[in-house]
Amino acid sequence: MEISYLRISVTDKCNLKCFYCRPDNMEFIPHDEILRYEEIAKLVKAMTKYGLKKVRITGGEPLVRPQIENLVSLLKSIPQIEDIGMTTNGITLSYHAEKLRKAGLNRLNISIDSLKPDLFYKITKGRLEDVLEGIRVSKKLGFDPIKINAVVIKGLNEDEALDFVEFAIDYGVEVRFIEMMPLGQGSIKWEKDMVQPLEEIKRKIEEKYGTLIPSFSIGSGAARVYEIPKYKAKIGFITPISNPFCDGCSKLRLTAEGSIKLCLRTDEEIPVKEVLRYGSEEDLDRFLQQVLVAKEISNLKIKNSSYAFSDCVRVMTSIGG
Ligand code: GTP
Ligand code: 5AD
Repeated sequence: MEISYLRISVTDKCNLKCFYCRPDNMEFIPHDEILRYEEIAKLVKAMTKYGLKKVRITGGEPLVRPQIENLVSLLKSIPQIEDIGMTTNGITLSYHAEKLRKAGLNRLNISIDSLKPDLFYKITKGRLEDVLEGIRVSKKLGFDPIKINAVVIKGLNEDEALDFVEFAIDYGVEVRFIEMMPLGQGSIKWEKDMVQPLEEIKRKIEEKYGTLIPSFSIGSGAARVYEIPKYKAKIGFITPISNPFCDGCSKLRLTAEGSIKLCLRTDEEIPVKEVLRYGSEEDLDRFLQQVLVAKEISNLKIKNSSYAFSDCVRVMTSIGG
């Protein structure tokens, strides 16, 4: 099998405290246990032999890790890597966007769960305006597409669907609505009734804008993407709960402390730090062959539904989606 997409978590720290994502008393990974940028790049390079073309830098919040642009440069220097993305909360993006762009970052996904400053603050403890400024700066620098991730929580922000569509039109960004997954617990416990099935959101949008036309977007492993033709606006739906998209998954995740996580739905992880630090190139290659077999088995287990998110202990903020 091929592995085409690696999500790289570079830190478990975050400058926001989204209540569904981060537990109250989180213990962070000690700094010397975190993979160095050179080690991450070494792994990425070795994985290109098995089809890796696309990487996404995540956190926690990736922009809290010092000199993150140096990692982007290292990844950019690997010829087989065609797409380098980052998922960020955008809070400090306006300061970092230019050096990230220069280093070779080509895509940005930015989380915004509410367009109301008060509610945004309630969810995240951060300032919406900082994120909006980050988007404006990034647009000017030519990042395209910019995707906005909105986790929809019933009773909290589902009434903002049409505002998000207007936002997509006004800012020229793609908005993706996301069903909340029960991944490790934040400071609240996930309940099924918090999940807003996105079919209903789609229907609401179609009532106002007419039938959404199936479309596509760069990347978009997880999203079903549509277009509102009149405005050329793209709207995506990520439905891990109501309509999972696990078939043929060729994605792996790297944790900040150096383990390969086979699937978001489980805590199955294979430590890679030792072989990266102390092994030879041949050792690393042999290790990757074992990972590929483990991933195939993991995909089969998913197919037979023996995995559920509920098995997960690792919290979202320490894997970054
Ligand atoms: P693109 O490269 O632009 O397609 O990015 P992406 O959608 O893969 O990444 P992003 O970090 O923006 O994630 C958006 C949402 O999709 C987050 O809630 C992720 O947790 C979720 N997501 C991404 N990949 C998977 C996956 O393999 N399984 C599940 N269940 N959710 C995923
Ligand atoms: N379910 C779905 N998406 C989540 N994210 C964070 N926690 C969850 C969850 N429980 C989203 C963030 C960010 C991306 C990395 O994952 O909003 O956009």
